[in-house]
Amino acid sequence: MNAPLNSTDPLVLFMPSGKRGRFPVGTPVLDAARQLGVYVESVCGGRATCGRCQIEVQEGNFAKHKIVSSLDHLSPKGPKEERYERVRGLPEGRRLSCSATIQGDLVIDVPQDTVINAQVVRKAASDRVIERNSAVQMCYVEVEQPDMHKPTGDLERLKTVLQDDWGWKDLRVAPYLIPEVQKILRKENWAVTAAIHKDMEFSRATVIALYPGLKNEAYGIACDIGSTTIAMHLVSLLSGRVVASSGTSNPQIRFGEDLMSRVSYVMMNPDGREAMTKAVREAVNTLIGKVCEEGSVDRHDIFDCVFVANPIMHHLFLGIDPTELGQAPFALAVSGAVQGWTNEIGIDVNRGARFYTLPCIAGHVGADAAGATLSEGPYRQDSMMLLVDVGTNAEIVLGNKNRVVAASSPTGPAFEGAEISSGQRAAPGAIERVRIDPETLEPRYRVIGTDKWSDEEGFEEASWTTGVTGICGSAIIEVVAEMYLSGIISEDGVVDGSLMAKSPRIIQNGRTFSYLLREGRQGEPRITVTQNDIRAIQLAKAALYAGVKLLMEKQGVETVDTIRFAGAFGSFIDPKYAMVLGLIPDCDLSEVKAVGNAAGTGALMALLNRDHRREIEKQVAKIEKIETALEPNFQQLFIDAMALPNKVDPFPKLAEQVKLPPRKAASDEGATGDATPRRRSREERAARRNRE
Ligand code: FES
Repeated sequence: MNAPLNSTDPLVLFMPSGKRGRFPVGTPVLDAARQLGVYVESVCGGRATCGRCQIEVQEGNFAKHKIVSSLDHLSPKGPKEERYERVRGLPEGRRLSCSATIQGDLVIDVPQDTVINAQVVRKAASDRVIERNSAVQMCYVEVEQPDMHKPTGDLERLKTVLQDDWGWKDLRVAPYLIPEVQKILRKENWAVTAAIHKDMEFSRATVIALYPGLKNEAYGIACDIGSTTIAMHLVSLLSGRVVASSGTSNPQIRFGEDLMSRVSYVMMNPDGREAMTKAVREAVNTLIGKVCEEGSVDRHDIFDCVFVANPIMHHLFLGIDPTELGQAPFALAVSGAVQGWTNEIGIDVNRGARFYTLPCIAGHVGADAAGATLSEGPYRQDSMMLLVDVGTNAEIVLGNKNRVVAASSPTGPAFEGAEISSGQRAAPGAIERVRIDPETLEPRYRVIGTDKWSDEEGFEEASWTTGVTGICGSAIIEVVAEMYLSGIISEDGVVDGSLMAKSPRIIQNGRTFSYLLREGRQGEPRITVTQNDIRAIQLAKAALYAGVKLLMEKQGVETVDTIRFAGAFGSFIDPKYAMVLGLIPDCDLSEVKAVGNAAGTGALMALLNRDHRREIEKQVAKIEKIETALEPNFQQLFIDAMALPNKVDPFPKLAEQVKLPPRKAASDEGATGDATPRRRSREERAARRNRE
């Protein structure tokens, strides 16, 4: 290995990382990978017993790289590799890189084991390769037996061989293991596998678990603790494969639906914080049990856990009183990444397991937003990317590789169906899509649980079991946008009562008007969209847009290039309708994408590669936090954003694809009779409330 390199040495290119170098004939492929910093797993230390170091040769003429690669450019299988193949089996084309040596030019594929990496790459919405470099490494060693003439302890000889075989210097050993070491070493004739944890907080790597013989398994969990849902992936740290994924509802809901009511619960009940911490930890433990059962994994084989959460959930989970987050200046107890032993936070996995929480960006922009930021990477972009996670509090990140700014905006629960007369959570029976004929004003809609539209034959039968029970968040966006496009509401969001003459679906309620979406069968509710519903949506969307606009002003840009919707809500809304409503700024529609649980994907990335932990810690420190409550022009931006799509901002790209109603001239203002000072002052009051 230390032989001098010369230009006639074989050239080896590793894919997908693209790293390349020349190595003398006879160099084991695993050594070449290590020298180039290409991550290839190994548990047995090159003894050809763990099978973790598999690679594949890509054959052919790679003219661009000036490499003709062939299987023959690897040494033939030796006895150890043949034994492994006989006993454990090797998929066709795979070789053990610890045994195969370089004999000629090669293009080598390091299989990115499967689903997980595909998932991470897709969610990261780029061609980046997520290389594995987890914080836990499994190291098999054969320890020297005790000798009366060498009075070193068993533990010291274990450390010596871990240094000699694996290069671990100055290892720490978790104190709980010390009384166990002698028994474990003797069980399999001095052969053991050490689980070694290496991450920033420890300047010294630490043996966190020890097993007799070869232990060829190590798992981790990536968990997103949301206010309503907790989502978890169980991942093999050795192959990178997601073994199981699942979710559960956050039991803290019983203490309060939204975050602020949970903070109030803590403030008003002496043991409120403890009760909520206990509830969320129990839910996480139950979910670990569920994913382990699904993946047939022993929970004690979990060595590392990564968590993301919004600031209040983050604090409650870590046992921190969140009271300060309920009031200005919204001080976080800790904003940086937190690490510790899982047993210190009551998480029941391996006794030596560690946990890591991503850093929080600000008092209202949490580790979940940091996870989404890591996943989508606005700071990696040349173009201006807007990343929004819409919940009761929208978390907004805007930036590119030069500068990233972040804020949160109090959208309230309207987008989740609360505060809407016929609103409900997305569940079977909820209307999820709506279209309105601009001529007849007749609607057609689809409900969760059937693929048929309401005007299709068989809809009534198909929807019979679920019923048609209400409108969920995605349909609330669509119905208000469609009401605007069909002229039922003005750009100020006022239902045009004069249309009563044209359609029986416009109905009067005192001084305002509603739109009848569905009459309802016997026993089913009548589903209408009232003036108050529209106001609630306007207030929510104006809060979000004003927050976005504030960040755009900070960045000095008039438009954004790409928009990423994170979270469940974003997965269901149609970007076109979100834009018609003016929820998001004008943008090429093909550049608006839902990215699912990006926060969870970020947690997964931090679990699989500790370099991503350093990356997001560094980025979060650089992100500029904007507090909307302190910005003097938030109120004006909010008032402008009450209009559909917006009182002042043009939407030229949207107009290319959707026929928007003509804009009213400024002098027309008030022509609807409802755009009165009374309503204005209500909006202003709402804006003030939001600022406060
Ligand atoms: Fe274990 Fe190659 S390193 S089989």
